[in-house]
Amino acid sequence: MATESGGASLQELSDVDLPEGDVTVAVAYSSLNFKDGLAVTGKGRIARRFPMVCGIDLAGTVEASDSPRWKPGDEVVVTGWGLSETHPGGYTQHQRLRSEWLIARPDGLTLRQTMAVGTAGLTAMLCVLALEHAGLQPDADGEVLVTGAGGGVGSVAVALLAHLGYQVAASTGRAETHAYLRSLGASTIVERSELATPSGRPLDKERWAAAVDTVAGETLASVLRQTRYRGGVAACGLASGNDLPTSVLPFILRNVSLLGIDSVQCPMPQRAEAWRRLESDLPTGLLDAMTTVEPMTRVPQLAEAILAGQTRGRVVVDVAG
Ligand SMILES: NC(=O)c1ccc[n+]([C@@H]2O[C@H](COP(=O)([O-])OP(=O)(O)OC[C@H]3O[C@@H](n4cnc5c(N)ncnc54)[C@H](OP(=O)(O)O)[C@@H]3O)[C@@H](O)[C@H]2O)c1
Repeated sequence: MATESGGASLQELSDVDLPEGDVTVAVAYSSLNFKDGLAVTGKGRIARRFPMVCGIDLAGTVEASDSPRWKPGDEVVVTGWGLSETHPGGYTQHQRLRSEWLIARPDGLTLRQTMAVGTAGLTAMLCVLALEHAGLQPDADGEVLVTGAGGGVGSVAVALLAHLGYQVAASTGRAETHAYLRSLGASTIVERSELATPSGRPLDKERWAAAVDTVAGETLASVLRQTRYRGGVAACGLASGNDLPTSVLPFILRNVSLLGIDSVQCPMPQRAEAWRRLESDLPTGLLDAMTTVEPMTRVPQLAEAILAGQTRGRVVVDVAG
């Protein structure tokens, strides 16, 4: 529970504390995303009202429903929609939600695996879909770059793109993740510092067929300068900050497309498509290999760790723990 004074703590709540909504869910798992790190530590202005139950996503079983769309026993997933911002989130054992936010658990994933995917994995899939809609195909000339590759969005993006047949270059600042990223399917490792340093030129040698960027700042500016003619760059993250020191030259001389990605208010048809594609295109063996399951009591420490860039892959939060 986040409080106005900053930071968060575990607190006992009862049913009278549940918010308004037409479906009550027995939560089994939530997950840890960069935004959860910001919310739990109080380092980012995520919660808009206090006290606020943190956790931007959850998976569990419907306990009670006033909606004809859901019945007790249905297994469901919720990501975004303002959870932990304007509506209490997933770091709890029971949550009341609006029925239109729920997605049925995809058949090919367990509840735990849906939170291994979580907001980060859904966002990675939305990035890949955006690049495909912009024309990217596996026979593209050049590698597809993923920045912040050792993190949650990055790891899922690497695994997805490699499975789809792309040549994947993974950018990381951590030498200890190189073998891990290769095990997910990366064929090239790019040092984070290579992209974080401005070249001083308006355009660099064309290198990437496309990119998924989770980092922003100088890194995204470098990626744009290095993206090949008519390539797309899906920008979803701000791990290094929220600025973008670029010029328009990649856009007007190389026809590069900068594709913005938002998972929070993403319309339901696109979410449904993304979950279908995650079910078919993300190997569950790789998903399990990139995931650790942690008890809720560890969330305060994990929140600090994810902001420090120290967590690898995805962290599922067992809310009973
Ligand atoms: N648009 C959306 O809807 C949406 C949804 C989900 C996430 N996001 C954003 O996407 C980003 C990644 O989220 P996540 O949950 O995957 O977080 P994460 O697990 O912490 O991954 C971020 C990764 O970025 C790299 N990194 C960290 N600090 C950095 C720095 N100062 N400079 C360069 N690289 C740095 C690290 O990877 P290496 O150690 O491998 O370099 C880190 O593991 C966050 O900014 C998050 O807010 C956006």
